[in-house]
Amino acid sequence: MLTKTVTRLNVPGPKARSVMARDGRVVSSAYGRVADFVMDHGRGSEVFDVDGNRYVDFVAGIAVNSTGHSHPQVVQAIQEQAEKFLHISSDYYHDEWVRLSERLAGIAPFEEQAHVFLGNSGTEAVEAAIKLAQYHTGRRRFIGFLSAFHGRTLGSLAFTASKTVQRKGFQTIPFVSHAPYPNAFRPLLAVQPDDEDYGDTVVNYIEQVMFKGLTPPEEVAAILVEPIQGEGGYVVPPASFFPRLREVCDRHSVLLIVDEVQAGMGRTGKWWAIEHTGVEPDVVCTAKGIASGIPLGGIIARKSVMDWPAGAHGNTYGGNPIACAAALATIDVLENGGMQNAREQGAYMMARFREMADRHPSIGDVRGRGLMIGVELVKDKTALEIAPDLRNRVVQIAFEHGLLLMGAGVNTMRIIPPLVITRDLVDEGLDIFEYALTLAEEEML
Ligand SMILES: Cc1ncc(COP(=O)(O)O)c(C=O)c1O
Repeated sequence: MLTKTVTRLNVPGPKARSVMARDGRVVSSAYGRVADFVMDHGRGSEVFDVDGNRYVDFVAGIAVNSTGHSHPQVVQAIQEQAEKFLHISSDYYHDEWVRLSERLAGIAPFEEQAHVFLGNSGTEAVEAAIKLAQYHTGRRRFIGFLSAFHGRTLGSLAFTASKTVQRKGFQTIPFVSHAPYPNAFRPLLAVQPDDEDYGDTVVNYIEQVMFKGLTPPEEVAAILVEPIQGEGGYVVPPASFFPRLREVCDRHSVLLIVDEVQAGMGRTGKWWAIEHTGVEPDVVCTAKGIASGIPLGGIIARKSVMDWPAGAHGNTYGGNPIACAAALATIDVLENGGMQNAREQGAYMMARFREMADRHPSIGDVRGRGLMIGVELVKDKTALEIAPDLRNRVVQIAFEHGLLLMGAGVNTMRIIPPLVITRDLVDEGLDIFEYALTLAEEEML
């Protein structure tokens, strides 16, 4: 039930319109925008546009602003580092880089000692993982998953399979075969009588169909997988998926790479989403939430796997001191309450969405972990026909009433606020969400 009144904003305002018009003249047409939001500044889990309109932020720069906007501890760490030096290049050493690598190695989701390679983004993390897997195993082939998103450079794009517009017109690296992601809500494969769950079904398909007819396992370097599928629709795999996948990887000496770019860094209430499964991966890709908005990404791999020699891979900005300082402060904030808050607010939000589902015919499924929540919208609960237009309309109405939202997949709303969001803002955002959903249902169902 609504706890506060929801009011309509007059957006986009004149200043926003002016910036958007100039943007249209010079910024690449490749960027697709979700709403006419022109940022002026942010504070915690609120953002303000150039015309002074205020919004609750349920997007956090796509899971990047994990500590909220301009968290004072993160800003201070960046300022202090900026006074010392901005860059030195990865050809030299510095302490912040080592300290961050130590912290990341310390929270790696496997027992073995970890080594860390840093870059600037999610796609670079995935590229590093692809190259490392090829180098370490001497093999060339990979398994990825349908509806996955791993980035847009030519290596990671070969795994990305969420929208054809992202691949159309581009030649990616070869040797990637895609399996269905274990989406039990919308299964592509028929579950067999002996299967434990749909996760088991998918792994059986990899072994019995792909490994027998398509992709010789002895040539497979790695399986690259999101622990919770992000862009594909916020899909949490069934319990047996990762344990079975690990077993298959071990049987064929294939590396298990988890892409934690969206799900990692505390978002699900643990450092890594894979930790909810009890499975230890070989390589972890991270970016987004790691440095609260300063570009940073990287991989954390078992020491025995990261065996490439100096010069095999590298970059100019690896270990950038500003990014490292921001990441160290981010980790502190998340460790000292941020992750705990993600668990608490996540459970509360999930309960409120489930209760909302009882009142709304268009909520087909609510799923997720911590503050990585997906709400799948359908035309009605019995037929489960997807409702992409309704989902997009909710994004727009919410924007016009002071809430930033973003979709994932064709018909799912992703809910990914800063991990430090307060209960008051959670309630305010959920009220606007329900208001927008009610209006969209009245208009469209
Ligand atoms: C799971 C996952 N991997 C990789 C990427 C690519 O990250 P970036 O946009 O920083 O290259 C994304 C971005 O959304 C992602 O969600």
